[in-house]
Amino acid sequence: MRILYLNACGQIGGSESSLLELMAGVRAAQPDWDLALALGEDGPVRGRAQALGVQVMVAPFPKMLARLGDATANPAAALWSLLQASGAAASYARELAQIVRAVQPDLIHSNGFKMHLLSVWASKDIPVLWHVHDYVRARPVMRRLLRWHAGHCAGAIANSWSVAADVRAVMPKLSVAPIYNAIDLTTFTPSGNELDLDALAGLPAPPEGTLRVGLVGVFARWKGHKVFLEALARVPAELPWRAYIVGGPIYQTDGSQWSRGELAEEVKRLNLSGRVGFTGFQDDVASALRALDIVVHASTRPEPFGMVIIEGMACGKAVIASNCGGASELVSDGVNALVHAPGDAAALGERISRLILNHDLRLRLGKTARATAERLYHRARLSTEIVSLYRRTAFHPGNGIPAGEERRTHAL
Ligand code: GLC
Repeated sequence: MRILYLNACGQIGGSESSLLELMAGVRAAQPDWDLALALGEDGPVRGRAQALGVQVMVAPFPKMLARLGDATANPAAALWSLLQASGAAASYARELAQIVRAVQPDLIHSNGFKMHLLSVWASKDIPVLWHVHDYVRARPVMRRLLRWHAGHCAGAIANSWSVAADVRAVMPKLSVAPIYNAIDLTTFTPSGNELDLDALAGLPAPPEGTLRVGLVGVFARWKGHKVFLEALARVPAELPWRAYIVGGPIYQTDGSQWSRGELAEEVKRLNLSGRVGFTGFQDDVASALRALDIVVHASTRPEPFGMVIIEGMACGKAVIASNCGGASELVSDGVNALVHAPGDAAALGERISRLILNHDLRLRLGKTARATAERLYHRARLSTEIVSLYRRTAFHPGNGIPAGEERRTHAL
């Protein structure tokens, strides 16, 4: 079997680490299969995929297409920029079609909305699977475009049951398989190398016994950096803690992410200077997580899945997750994590304080979290599900995924 993966972004965000782990799993389960990846932008994804033995081609997105996004813009503005970018999209689809002809895949697996649309234009008769990582309904223009193109797609993979329900609501005829992401449990481990977050943030070492609280992830606005800072402002200053924002802006799309300057302003405004460090983007996420005592996930909109939640759990950390969307399928409150309502800075602040004060609770949650990750988020589970789906889709396109299946799994 030869599979061609399509991914727009060259930087490693959640859907890229999901894809890398998926390709690693397929490679391990089926060493004879040929895996190729076309990227719309050069970046660290290229080297990471090549290290897995994946043939990588970089076909840079034209600027117009790269900057296009309708997540936050109003529908009219989104439609207008879409019309402006449509010429660029058409010529890019021709470029992709050439790649498809050269690779001759049995199956195309696309990652990300723009690639879903382009994959249909470029695929000819080759079955296409869309791997949907984000909610479709919330995107006024993309929702319509995907619906128009869905008839040419063999099926979709959703990263959670919550996203699967959303995709089905928009495209009732499309077969959707909810398949949870996985992570490398030998990389995300409780013990191992730890980054010196203070040095990275340019802060002096804190006093002995200081607990480290961190938000790790891209600077997308809905990831809740401001809620995190507001929550920290409510954690008693006399408790021994320091907080870190690990990550940076990685997208080319305008208006959808914080700049570091904006967040630094907020730190000042909330009198948190010296208490919160910015480490910048870190390639070695596992070592960043291990350096923390409390891992915070603070998304303000429903989180489709939330890689950092399972990564923090696998590192045996006390995780506080925003109780929304697919994220709430991953955790069980008080058992393997704590949860707070999305956007509720007071509740988040209370959970952070509770964990700072309660060593036993941190330990207990971390231990159960690691056990959950070992049971549910390991590579072999993902590759078994994906390989069987590929087989059904490539050899019997159209009936790869049972349609209308409804189920909700839970971490426990
Ligand atoms: C997207 C989603 C995120 C998910 C990731 C991997 O980035 O927003 O929730 O964890 O994809 O599926």
